[in-house]
Amino acid sequence: MLDLLYLLSRGVLFQLDPERAHELTLWGAERFGRLLGALARRGPEVPAQLCGLELRSPVGLAAGLDKNAVALPLWERLGFGFVEIGTVTPRPQVGNPRPRVHRLKQARALINAMGFPNEGAEAIGARLERLRKAGRWPKIPIGVNVGKNKDTPAAEASADYRSAAARLVEFADYLVVNVSSPNTPGLRALQGKDDLARILGAVVEVSGGKPVLIKLSPDLEDEPLAEAVEVAREGGAAGLIATNTTITRPVADPREHKGGFSGRPLFPLAKGRLEVLLAAAGDLPVVGVGGVDGPERAGALLDLGCAAVQLYTGLIYEGPGLPARINRGLAKR
Ligand SMILES: Cc1cc2nc3c(=O)[nH]c(=O)nc-3n(C[C@H](O)[C@H](O)[C@H](O)COP(=O)(O)O)c2cc1C
Repeated sequence: MLDLLYLLSRGVLFQLDPERAHELTLWGAERFGRLLGALARRGPEVPAQLCGLELRSPVGLAAGLDKNAVALPLWERLGFGFVEIGTVTPRPQVGNPRPRVHRLKQARALINAMGFPNEGAEAIGARLERLRKAGRWPKIPIGVNVGKNKDTPAAEASADYRSAAARLVEFADYLVVNVSSPNTPGLRALQGKDDLARILGAVVEVSGGKPVLIKLSPDLEDEPLAEAVEVAREGGAAGLIATNTTITRPVADPREHKGGFSGRPLFPLAKGRLEVLLAAAGDLPVVGVGGVDGPERAGALLDLGCAAVQLYTGLIYEGPGLPARINRGLAKR
C-alpha cells in the first residue's frame, strides 16, 4: 500500500529539487507517521546482534536521512532493525548553500554537499524527550551520530563531539563518531590517529558505557584504515561503520557537482574497503553501508562478516518497501 503511494508520488517528487522532495517527505512522515506506518509492512524478523544490542533485522537506516529525529516511529514500521539519527552538532547550523543535493537518476546515485544542517543537540534532545513522554518511543535501537560545528576549529573538535554526545546519550542505544563526511572542511583529517583517539576518548567518557562506533570514509587507503582500527581498539570503541560517501566518482558526473557520492555505484568501493576493514577489525563488529539497495547486496555484506548493514540512497530510489523486501530476502536464506 505504502509502495503504491510511493510509486504515485515518485513522479512528482523526482520533478522537485532533491532536498525539497526530501523535506516534503519528512514533513509527511512526521505528521502522518501513524497512518503511513499502518499501511507499511515490516517483513519477517531476521534476528541479529550489534554490539550487544538485539535487532529484529540487521538492516538499519543510515545517518543523514532523519538528521533531526522527526519520524522515528515510522522507520520502525518500515521494517528497519535500527535507526541512526544525525549527524547532530552541539549548536544548530544551516549547512552549505543550496542546491546541495543532486540526483544521478540513471545511476541510482546521489551527490550531496549538505555540511551537517541540523537543529542542534538541545532542540533534538527536547524532541526526543517529547517522543518518550508521549509513549511513542520506538522499540528498535536508536543510534546517535555526532559531529562538530563547521566553525569549530579542528583543535577544539573533541569538545564538540563530547558536548553533542553528552546531551543525547540518554536517548541513545549507541553513539557514532562521524569523522568521515566530506562536506565539513577538515573533518576527514580527524580520521588521523591522534585526533581520532582524542575525539573517541571524549565521547567514550560521556557514553555511560553505551557502545561507541566510528564511521569511516571509503576514501581511506589500507594503512589509515588499519590505524583507525588500532585507535578504535585502544580507545574502547565498540565497533566501526563503513562507509560514508566518497569524494571519488564511481560513475561519471557530467555536471561535476561537488560533494559526497552515494548509492548503487558506491557498492563495489564500499565492499572492497569493508573487506580490508573486516580483516583488520578481527572481533570488533563492523556495520556495512554503501549502495545497499536490495537483499542480494545486504546479504553479500553480511556474508563478508558485517554484523549489520545500513542504507540511505536505496530508500530514495527503491521506496519505503525496501527494508521489508530485504528482510524477506534475508529470511529465505
Ligand atoms: C543527502 C545525504 C546526507 C547524508 N548525511 C550524513 C550525515 O549527516 N552523517 C553521516 O554520518 N552520514 C551521512 N550520509 C551518508 C550515509 O549515511 C551513508 O553512509 C552513505 O550515503 C552511503 O550509503 P548509501 O549508498 O546507502 O546512501 C548522508 C548521505 C546522503 C545521501
